[in-house]
Formats: sequence, C-alpha cells, structure tokens
Amino acid sequence: MGQKIAVIGTGYVGLTTGACLSHLGHDVVCADVVPEKVDALNRGEIPILEAGLDELVHTGVAEGRLSFVLGAENAVGDAEFVFLCLPTPQGADGAADLSFIKRAAGHIGPLLEPGTVVINKSTVPVGSAGEVAKKLRRDDVYVVSNPEFLREGTAVNDFLHPDRIVIGSDDGAAAQRVAGLYVDLPGEVLITDPASAETIKYASNAFLATKISFVNAMAAVCEEVGADVTDVVKGMGLDQRIGDRFLVPGPGWGGSCFPKDSHALVRIAENSGYQFGLLRQVIAVNEEQFGRVANKITRLAGGRLQGRTIAVWGLTFKARTDDLRDSPSLNIINRLLEVGATVRAYDPAVVDGSDPRLEGIEVVTDPYEAVTKADVLAVLTEWPEFTELDMAKVGDLIGHKAVVDGRNLLDGAVLKELGFAYDGIGRS
Ligand code: UDX
Repeated sequence: MGQKIAVIGTGYVGLTTGACLSHLGHDVVCADVVPEKVDALNRGEIPILEAGLDELVHTGVAEGRLSFVLGAENAVGDAEFVFLCLPTPQGADGAADLSFIKRAAGHIGPLLEPGTVVINKSTVPVGSAGEVAKKLRRDDVYVVSNPEFLREGTAVNDFLHPDRIVIGSDDGAAAQRVAGLYVDLPGEVLITDPASAETIKYASNAFLATKISFVNAMAAVCEEVGADVTDVVKGMGLDQRIGDRFLVPGPGWGGSCFPKDSHALVRIAENSGYQFGLLRQVIAVNEEQFGRVANKITRLAGGRLQGRTIAVWGLTFKARTDDLRDSPSLNIINRLLEVGATVRAYDPAVVDGSDPRLEGIEVVTDPYEAVTKADVLAVLTEWPEFTELDMAKVGDLIGHKAVVDGRNLLDGAVLKELGFAYDGIGRS
C-alpha cells in the first residue's frame, strides 16, 4: 500500500526523490516556494537535465500519484512522511548553512499530524536531526536522517538501484517505517543513529573526493616519470581492495556536493577539535589541479595568454548534466580570463550564455565555431559526443593545432598524426 508523502523542495534531490517514490507506488505531493517552478512542473516541464526523470514525473502525474504545490503548508497536512530536500549551501566559514531547513521545519511543525516522520534527505551537519526536532517543536513527531547518494545525471538510476539505504533514528519503529518506503528496492538497509547516518554521507563524499585527488596527484607523478596514468589506474583497479571506480583523472572534482561537503567536513572536524589535515590536502590538491590544467593551456598557447583565444569544449561540472555549480571548467576558464585570454566555449547542455556564472565567456552553440582561429582547444568536460567530432575539420579551422585534453577523452595518437600538439592528464 502506498504511503502519503510530502517532499519539500523540488531541486535535483527533491524532484528525483518525489518522482521515484511515486514510481514505487506512494502518493507524493512536492512543494516548492518558486511559483514559476511549480507551474512549470504541473505543466509537465522538467527544469533540469536528468536521465529518466521526465518519464517518471509524467507517469506519476498522469496516474494521480504525484502533484506539485506552492508552499510546504499545502503539502504536509495529511502526510505520514515529510522529506526535507532543501539546499544547504556553504556558509562563509565553510560550514553548511542550515537556515532553509530550519525555516521550513519551523513553518511545518504546527501543521503535522501526530506520528508523522520528518526525514532529512539533504546533506546536513552532524547534529542536524536534533536541530530540526527543536524547530518542529513537537514531541509527537519523529525526525529521521536518510541521506541521499544520488549522482547528477544518473540520479533516477541511483535512487532505484542503491548500493545501500542509510537510515538514522533514535526511534526504532520510525526507522522501520522509513525502511518500509523502500521495501521494493535492492541494496542493503543500514539502520543507525542520526549522527552516524549524517557522518556516513560526509565520509562517503570525502572519501570519493580523496580517491580523485589521489589519482590526479598520481597523474602528475606519471607525467614526470614517463608512465601512463590510464594503465596505472587499470593496474591498481584490478586489485579488488582498490577497484577502479572514481579513479578517473581529470581537471579536478566539482559539482554541487564534493566541494561543499569536503569543506563542511573539515569544519565539522575542526569544531570538534580534530584538524583533518588529510582532507585539507585533498582540497588543496584539487585547487592545484585546476592550476595545472590552466598551465598546460598556457604552455600550448606559447607561454602567455594575453591576446590568445582559447576554445573550450565542456562547461558543466561533468557530462550528462546541465549543472554549472562549482564546475572545474569554469574555475579553469576564470584563471585564463584573469590573465587576458579570450575564451570561446561550447557545451551541448548550455545554450543560454546569459547565466552570470558564464560572464566573460563567449558561449557558442557549435563545437566547430568554438575552435575557429583559436590558439588552443581545451576539453574540460567528458561529453561522449566530443569523441565523434571531426578532428581533421577542427585542424582546418583552428589557428594553432594544439589540444589540452583535460579528461583524456580524445585519442592522442590520432591527434598527433593529424599534426596537433596534444597534452592530456598523466600521459605523454
Ligand atoms: C556526488 C556523489 O557521487 C553522490 O553520491 C552524492 O550524493 C552527490 O555528490 P555528483 O556531484 O553528481 O555526485 O557527481 P559525481 O559523479 O560524484 O562527480 C563529482 C566530481 O568528480 C565531478 O566533477 C566529476 O567530473 C569528478 N570525477 C568523478 C572525476 O574527476 N573522476 C572520477 O573518477 C569521478
């Protein structure tokens, strides 16, 4: 039997959560505070690029199990479960800013039915379950932590095929009720206390960021010793204790989670008296990586960028998403702009160059237009379609045949045969 669920916040996490829970047979009402967003969703327009999400939303709405309303107060009235899927942006001191969540909790507290379970899905500092409980001011409702582990671009698949479902609660029965929502999903269910559940989320993201910084640092070593990082990773990954996932070298990690969560964990540790030097260094290696890629571009541009035009393929923080938040590509581009380069960029998911984050960048809608008369082509996002492009044509259009492949996406040998100077990550 489907349960009555309210989801507060229709961003990447909330919309995916609501759509997937309705797909599992629950009755879901999603609330947001932005009227245009709610109207668009009710018309069936999905504001983000997320594989499979359109279909789930359309089916859920058509079958009457999914709807969108303005304001949390219109969603929670008869809900048995309320998912809080609100932003936790990085505050000035690096810690996550809980104000959206606290405000929502204060707002919905008086409206909840006795026995309702309020679930923190957003990534929240350790201790937040208690903070939410305080704001709700109710001793007859439960607060449970149930962190999301959704990758943008594959969020629907990650939701429906989880490696694990983590539920943190001081009340065993409330935890079991939340577990019951996911009863049809595979993956192990781990029930623990709220602080451990909240810590699992931070620890997982910090560990994955550590793997990537490690491999990016190894790539730098490979360049110095003449090794090929692709083979090094293959060799490491065959050791089952290591595995080869999240060991793909690139221009550094970004997105809406890793940067924010790693800084927040450094802060959480510091506030509790532990200096998390390892994680600080993971962040420093990532900054270093942005600089290394910018240096590669400068080198192939002849040592200076003043008056040079750099073509960039890829603006989003990774492929298969239209999300620009904390994109390594934008970080690297801004380093180039600061020293006088002109940047002309193409990204299959970015058609509107008016986003303020793209200020100073000439955004074009054709990859060949981007390279025309450019001094260097830099590939900064791993969109698979870039491998299908005609590099001989690029060679004819570009001013200087030079490619910095920040994702090791293109075939360096083919490019060299075509007369390009080629520089990838961790390979010669
Ligand atoms: C991440 C986590 O994976 C997810 O579990 C969590 O809940 C939210 O944060 P997401 O931000 O969507 O998901 O991106 P992810 O696919 O993890 O990639 C993060 C960054 O690391 C991207 O910039 C990506 O390009 C980079 N990356 C990832 C690498 O450079 N190499 C890799 O091997 C993997």
